Amino acid sequence: MCGIIGYIGKREAAPLLLNGLKRLEYRGYDSAGMAVLNGQMQVLKQKGSVGNLEELLNVSGTVMLGATMGIAHTRWATHGDPSDRNAHPHMNISSDIALIHNGIIENYSSLKKELLSQGYEFESDTDSEVLVHLIDRVWKADPSIGLEGAVRQALRHVDGAYGICVVSSREPDKIVVARKGSPLVIGLGDGEFFIASDAAPIVEHTNKVVYLLDGEMAVVTRDNYTVKTIENVEQQKRVTELDFSLEKIEKGGYEHFMLKEIFEQPEVMRDVMRGRIRVEEGRVQLGGIEDYLDRLKQAKRIVICACGTSWHAGLIGEYLIEEFARIPVEVDYASEFRYRNPIVTSDDVVIVISQSGETADTLAALRLAKEKGALVMGICNVVGSTIARETLCGMYTHAGPEVGVASTKAFTAQVIVLFMLAMALSKGRTISQEEIKLNLRELAEVPEKVARILEQNDAIREIALKLKDARNALYLGRGYNFPVALEGALKLKEISYIHAEGYPAAEMKHGPIALIDEDMPVIVIATRDNTYAKILSNIEEVRSRKGRVIAIASEGDRDIEQLTPDVIFIPQASAALLPLLTVIPLQLLSYHVATMRGCNVDRPRNLAKSVTVE
Ligand code: G6P
Repeated sequence: MCGIIGYIGKREAAPLLLNGLKRLEYRGYDSAGMAVLNGQMQVLKQKGSVGNLEELLNVSGTVMLGATMGIAHTRWATHGDPSDRNAHPHMNISSDIALIHNGIIENYSSLKKELLSQGYEFESDTDSEVLVHLIDRVWKADPSIGLEGAVRQALRHVDGAYGICVVSSREPDKIVVARKGSPLVIGLGDGEFFIASDAAPIVEHTNKVVYLLDGEMAVVTRDNYTVKTIENVEQQKRVTELDFSLEKIEKGGYEHFMLKEIFEQPEVMRDVMRGRIRVEEGRVQLGGIEDYLDRLKQAKRIVICACGTSWHAGLIGEYLIEEFARIPVEVDYASEFRYRNPIVTSDDVVIVISQSGETADTLAALRLAKEKGALVMGICNVVGSTIARETLCGMYTHAGPEVGVASTKAFTAQVIVLFMLAMALSKGRTISQEEIKLNLRELAEVPEKVARILEQNDAIREIALKLKDARNALYLGRGYNFPVALEGALKLKEISYIHAEGYPAAEMKHGPIALIDEDMPVIVIATRDNTYAKILSNIEEVRSRKGRVIAIASEGDRDIEQLTPDVIFIPQASAALLPLLTVIPLQLLSYHVATMRGCNVDRPRNLAKSVTVE
């Protein structure tokens, strides 16, 4: 989950790399560094954000002048605390090889012991540093193999996940890169090449990219690039044209990416549905799963695996698919699924959901399900991501790059995809064509309803004032709104660091009620659906213990105003579509609480956008 950017061409490398790191900061931001070659190897690295590295570059950057190639890295610590010396790049003892690494080297401690016994000295506490010394060792043992051969041989000793870039002043006009488990992309410019852990830092320079696959290496020079497997077999690569612009990955006038992404939702929702639903015909056309739809409909069971917010979307998927398509669904945390020897057969369909398409546990769950013979389908946002490529079929969420660490637009996009999937699985089987038409019509109206909720931003900010000093908060919902309660609580804890729990409202009396007093805000999703009366009783229970209630209610509900002054109204919708509406005020509440508390909304402490390690 760190960020990598490399450049080789004719331009000054240092400012270009720095700019790339800024675009990658959402992948990791506890330290940053770069190595460039201008006759000599020049390395700068620093604890803290890319801004700190920029200051260092302003002070001592003249040494980097004239360099037209280099590599840079922004880190999210896995081994060794955030510090200058643990920042990448890492160097060999003679300082003529520099390496940056994403991922985790699992056998690093045995490799380190071996290298220490051979006289190697370590500067850092990272697992990554063993790689550079290994490369040094094999290269010294046989100088004829060159940098490429040395990287190839070194990697044979390594267990774990990596995306690496290596440069050496002994072979100054090339960057050697390799991938296993951590994504790498090569950008093809005009007389220049870029290497990055995702396309975000590349897209302002070129829209032509080549994705490396697991087990592949590339040697990138000023004139061309070659891709081979780590076993040295040449590969023919397809050039992909990216279709997202730089503008899309910038803040677009909002103070934070998260706010921009919350406000983008009506447009994103339309993008998700575009070309996929025909309301008047009651048709759902899902290109990525069309060929497998019959097999999907015949599934004895569907298992949904995901992590974090994507797991919450999965829970809503369970409710949707069971209600409409009547296929039994189980939802599992990917990390639990992969280690509990699950029963999965070829009659099962396993759906993995991941915004990034790179989450290590979700990827492992997918591989396990495949091994066991299940049909594996993916729901991903990042096009060309590992999960998207390894699933047999799937659907992209088309939410565009999501930069804020707390997922917002990707979540609602996932829920829409799951809704469309539920319709496709139901068609001709479990619900009438008329019902499908009705459901699709209502779905098509959701973006406009979301826009109306967003208009209440100022009123929601006022309510956030009442939450901002809380130390704990409880979120309650029932039915389709139960996963939304979980998601609301997750949003609050992720970005404001207030402890929050989500509960099915009826479970309150089995424990959480003991916590309720005048200091405990309780956010209750109390929309008009079949559990409305029960939810009102829950609110009474909270009030009688002096708990402070913030309610999310349906427009026109006068009763709820008798119970609490703090109500956020949302447009009416049928129960299955409510999560797409009720989650919006919860996203905004968390956002405002976090900004009022002075938290770094887009980059909350200890979290990363894309968790590519276990
Ligand atoms: C991290 C992110 C979350 C995300 C989760 C799963 O924890 O901070 O926002 O929900 O990973 O990520 P995925 O990319 O698989 O959806």
